[in-house]
Amino acid sequence: MKRAVTPGTFDPITYGHLDVITRAAQLMDEVIVGVAASPGKAPIFSLEERAELARASTAHLANVRVEPFEGLLVDFARAVDAQVLVKGLRAITDFEYEFQMAALNYELERAIETVFIMSPPQYMYLSSSIVRELARLGSPVDQFVPAPVAEALARKFA
Ligand code: PNS
Repeated sequence: MKRAVTPGTFDPITYGHLDVITRAAQLMDEVIVGVAASPGKAPIFSLEERAELARASTAHLANVRVEPFEGLLVDFARAVDAQVLVKGLRAITDFEYEFQMAALNYELERAIETVFIMSPPQYMYLSSSIVRELARLGSPVDQFVPAPVAEALARKFA
């Protein structure tokens, strides 16, 4: 049984994240979307809100479930018995940070492999921070996030 974690802060989940999760779900037997507490990033949505929005956005994917976590990613991956971390790579700007994280996680736990999935061109520029900024400025975000997320953003910035 190949079980992967797709980790992130998901503040909020976007179609870019969903693309990676969907493709990971096609490669793996089971995918756990690990929603990190990430207190240092001061998320606008609470951990439970982010997990709920991720659940609503992935409900159609039979082998995907969502779990919030605090602490180290490798500890979470061990706790859910995952052998693989799947991360999305958008552009060259992501590379250095992701390279550092993959190397660190390898150092912490050799038994867990990091695998990267390239974002398709239409999502190369998309990020949660861009979506938050658009929503904050009153711009529609429907083409970037699933409907429950767009509604939650509208409520947040009403
Ligand atoms: O969506 P993000 O914010 O780019 O995701 C980053 C995330 C959550 C994957 C990363 O910050 C992470 O792994 N956080 C958990 C804590 C941890 O293991 N940090 C690395 C060692 S310092």
